[in-house]
Amino acid sequence: MTAPILAVVGARPNFVKMAPVLAALEEHEPGRVRLLHTGQHYDRALSGDFIERLGMREPDANLGVGSGTHAEQTAGVLVGVEAELEANPAELVLVAGDVNSTMAAALAAAKEQVPVAHIESGLRSGDWSMPEELNRVVTDRVADLLLCTSEDAVQNLAREGIAGDGVQLVGNTMIDSLFRLLEGVDRPELLAKHDVEPGNFVLVTLHRPTLVDHPELLGQTMEVLARLAESITVLFPVHPRTQARLDAAGSSGWGAVRLLEPLDYTEFIGLEAEARLVITDSGGVQEETSVLGVPCLTYRTTTERPITIHLGTNRLVGVDPAELRRAAEEALAAEPPREPPRIPLWDGKSGPRAAEAITAFLERNRAPISD
Ligand code: UD1
Ligand code: UDP
Repeated sequence: MTAPILAVVGARPNFVKMAPVLAALEEHEPGRVRLLHTGQHYDRALSGDFIERLGMREPDANLGVGSGTHAEQTAGVLVGVEAELEANPAELVLVAGDVNSTMAAALAAAKEQVPVAHIESGLRSGDWSMPEELNRVVTDRVADLLLCTSEDAVQNLAREGIAGDGVQLVGNTMIDSLFRLLEGVDRPELLAKHDVEPGNFVLVTLHRPTLVDHPELLGQTMEVLARLAESITVLFPVHPRTQARLDAAGSSGWGAVRLLEPLDYTEFIGLEAEARLVITDSGGVQEETSVLGVPCLTYRTTTERPITIHLGTNRLVGVDPAELRRAAEEALAAEPPREPPRIPLWDGKSGPRAAEAITAFLERNRAPISD
């Protein structure tokens, strides 16, 4: 028997966004979903550990596309998902986020005339130099069910002529994972393990090619972090793309900045919740810090998540080392927020809402046509 839903995951943030939706879809009907891993991320620290931590089951298949150019990765997923759908027909393909695997799986499904549901639909940075922006627009153009995290995403879709029953505001499934797993984190033990005090360290993640693939800019940014580390502990779990660039730079070190391997999800969110300040260019981290009430400086020129600025704790600083230094000093001098902000529908219940929307969509699609 084939499962009616094919869920496709490939990269670190996909697991965090997909897990709550899969859990809700299969709560009353196990075996409803076939889980396909594209293999875009393959290191245990970026893939297997997340599947385990989030309590997802092992993927039913793995395309093993691995790293490569955009065309290589996209082509590998296109070919793999097409073959997968031929071998195991599905009524719906479910994708999440904005990585190459997301867009390629959606496109392969659309070509096979299989409806597509997209978790985290409608986000737009307006920056076409970001591969993710192209992925978002293409995925949403071919998607039939567009599940949005916030009202601004619904409006972005409406501006592109996408509206109606297919667009559903369900909230942020990434926050479901955050709330569920943060509860079980032994924070004192975690802080002791990393030798940091609560509210007295800075947590950094940087992995965007526009920054890390530019050696001079990356070097100047690392120098700013090294200056910061003279006055406060700076923890920097390094994405493998960034690690490769730092290795290539051949520097003997970046002062007292503590470079770490990519962190286990529960360790990362535990540290995120206890940090005095987070500096990042990640999409998901802007959202997580916002609901945690932890100040976040986004080291980018644009964000597709404006709600984290309007309602959350995020501030966009551009990609300018001098501005980063100023903004970090200012943030550390300011009073930390007292109450975590409330963002509508980022309440830990978005997975069930998304599953409900998917179930209703499948029922509508299956309904016999009456004449
Ligand atoms: C990808 C996504 C990005 C997302 C990020 C999440 C695209 C275009 N980019 O970026 O949107 O924010 O994932 O983390 O889809 N590598 C390893 N081990 C792995 C995976 C990658 O060492 O398991 C290294 C390889 O050198 C690889 C590089 O990281 O070339 C980049 O990996 P890739 O998947 O192409 O893009 P990310 O930068 O991870
Ligand atoms: N994350 C993690 N360990 C790390 C860095 C990030 O578990 O060392 C988690 C983080 O909590 C969030 C997700 O990875 O849930 C974000 O992924 P990433 O920044 O790679 O991708 P983006 O959100 O930018 O697409």
